[in-house]
Amino acid sequence: MKAIVRYTYGDESVLEFADLPDPVAGPGEVLVRVRAAGVDRGAWHIMTGLPRLARLAFGVRRPRDPGLGMDAAGVVESVGEGVTRFSPGDEVFGVVRGSFAELAVAAERHLVPKPANAGWEEAAAAPTSMITAFDALRGRATTGTRVLVLGAGGGVGHLAVQVARSLGAHVTAATSDPAFAASLGATSAIDYRTEPLIGTYDVILDVGGRRPVRELRALLSPTGTLVFVGGEGGGAILGGMQRQLVVAPFSRQKFVTFVARTTPAALQEVADHLAAATVVPIVERTYRLDEAAAALRHMSAGTVRGKLVLVP
Ligand SMILES: NC(=O)c1ccc[n+]([C@@H]2O[C@H](COP(=O)([O-])OP(=O)(O)OC[C@H]3O[C@@H](n4cnc5c(N)ncnc54)[C@H](OP(=O)(O)O)[C@@H]3O)[C@@H](O)[C@H]2O)c1
Repeated sequence: MKAIVRYTYGDESVLEFADLPDPVAGPGEVLVRVRAAGVDRGAWHIMTGLPRLARLAFGVRRPRDPGLGMDAAGVVESVGEGVTRFSPGDEVFGVVRGSFAELAVAAERHLVPKPANAGWEEAAAAPTSMITAFDALRGRATTGTRVLVLGAGGGVGHLAVQVARSLGAHVTAATSDPAFAASLGATSAIDYRTEPLIGTYDVILDVGGRRPVRELRALLSPTGTLVFVGGEGGGAILGGMQRQLVVAPFSRQKFVTFVARTTPAALQEVADHLAAATVVPIVERTYRLDEAAAALRHMSAGTVRGKLVLVP
């Protein structure tokens, strides 16, 4: 099969479009013929090995796994021993090992049936970013909650706007593209390039921009919650994680950080919203698999509206 691989950390120039032996599904695993692969910020971090702290998980000196990409939609090619939920020919989507390839293996629990109404590209763009948006807002947003999404035009942010709206929240989008945010259902928008952030919010999702925490706290209600989702350019070692160590012992404001978890329930929630068309990824552009370097370069510029997708 054809696949994107790399044997060292670095920028897009380390990527190779290679011929590899077809992978095989082990016990409890499913082999998927990839029809589309979502391009996620995680792929860029794993490619570059930045922040360096991430190398503890992915290989200290060089990447342990040469493959890249997590999100995929495709057709089941074969199933390993003990797999009961899927058979060859089923249309599925979810999180796989190395989605930037013609074939990829996934744990059975990391796949769900693709809703018939969802396109391959839409489904491939959904898993990681949509699960992150749900995890960021679950139990925090309901009817009338005032939510501010910083970085509302990107992969996670554009879905967070839709998730918050589907929960009945009043959503303010801080974005460089207010028109795009309005098209997603944001109640109002602030162009952070030209306007100051104003207002009072029950929940702030800090997805981009890495503003000083004290600035964000001033926008938070006395019992509000600041959710640290991410933000690029925070330093080569820790990637800005140090921002999340907020010490405020006498405050009723809450400060939360999390890593999105791919569980069967989380994937089913994504599938249900795709089926009902209540939260739908916007795919700005599709690249061919052999153009993965261009897609990652495009994403790392931070200007993508919604998501990018690779197709073999
Ligand atoms: N915690 C987790 O489990 C988890 C999961 C997934 C991703 N993440 C992290 O979350 C972050 C966002 O991921 P993503 O996939 O959404 O990336 P992305 O598609 O590149 O979106 C990032 C967005 O940040 C916004 N931004 C840039 N400068 C800004 C500024 N000065 N003020 C406000 N917003 C600004 C831009 O929003 P506009 O387009 O609106 O201008 C951009 O679209 C990344 O750091 C990623 O690593 C964390």
